[in-house]
Amino acid sequence: MTDMDGKVALVTGASSGVGQKTAELLARRGARVVLCDLDASGGAVAEGIVTAGGEAVFRTVDVRSLEQLQQAVAVAERSYGRLDTVVANAGTVGGSAVAHRLEDLTDDQWVSIIDVNLVGTMRTFAAAIPALRRAGGGAMSATASIAALTGVAGQAAYSASKGGIVSVVRTLAYELVADGIRVNCVCPGGINTNLLGDTDILPALTAQMEAAATRGDAMSPQELMNRAAQPEEVANVHRFLVSDDASLITGQAVVCDSGSMVANLWMVIDR
Ligand SMILES: NC(=O)c1ccc[n+]([C@@H]2O[C@H](COP(=O)([O-])OP(=O)(O)OC[C@H]3O[C@@H](n4cnc5c(N)ncnc54)[C@H](O)[C@@H]3O)[C@@H](O)[C@H]2O)c1
Repeated sequence: MTDMDGKVALVTGASSGVGQKTAELLARRGARVVLCDLDASGGAVAEGIVTAGGEAVFRTVDVRSLEQLQQAVAVAERSYGRLDTVVANAGTVGGSAVAHRLEDLTDDQWVSIIDVNLVGTMRTFAAAIPALRRAGGGAMSATASIAALTGVAGQAAYSASKGGIVSVVRTLAYELVADGIRVNCVCPGGINTNLLGDTDILPALTAQMEAAATRGDAMSPQELMNRAAQPEEVANVHRFLVSDDASLITGQAVVCDSGSMVANLWMVIDR
């Protein structure tokens, strides 16, 4: 018997990175999982779970569509009889929109980042809540960011989208407590995934760390454990938050950033 035995989970952004590792971890712990992503490579992730002895299906879903999310929830109930666990994780840094001053971005660029990250999370929760009520309760988690909690130069829209998730989680925790539904989010720092691959954030971060080391700073980022996380490490936090181990925790933004907020490291901007 493992902690997710009998549970049915829906994970968005499940084709790669944190979402993939979360779906695989929940499945290993006994959950049946509906993987959702815009990118159809999540089909192979679901097949991998099944090959390993788990239960999973993949559904192509764009979190900009409430209807597609509702269909994915229906797949969970039709295939597995219920839905009690949700990880709203799909997100984007906005490609070329990252690391620019607010006034250098267009209205369309701000809106598209907010649409995927913040409204996408709200749509995911809204689509799932009726099913969680039908299941008699459950738990939801979202992937926010330390950008929700601290200043990140060059990422106003991204930070606002993630800050909005923290507010939504607090509100829903209150709205849903009587239904036995807990709602939390994780706030990671840098994670070693595809997300930052086509941006200049990781090289800038590395340069900052090297400069701090060269200066011989007594409190260098390395000494503060600062490093990019592996997606499995963030998946562990989601797993905890949606499990009964976190039965007392709701409405919280859990920071899992390998010390980067205390290192005051994130100062990246295209000057
Ligand atoms: N990588 C980091 O440094 C970092 C730090 C803090 C928070 N995060 C957050 O972690 C979450 C997961 O990102 P990741 O780092 O694993 O990156 P990733 O690029 O590996 O995964 C993101 C996934 O979301 C999917 N996605 C994007 N837009 C979508 C949409 N409209 N509909 C459905 N799916 C969509 C992508 O196809 C991809 O599979 C994101 O919300 C991201 O903002 C990442």
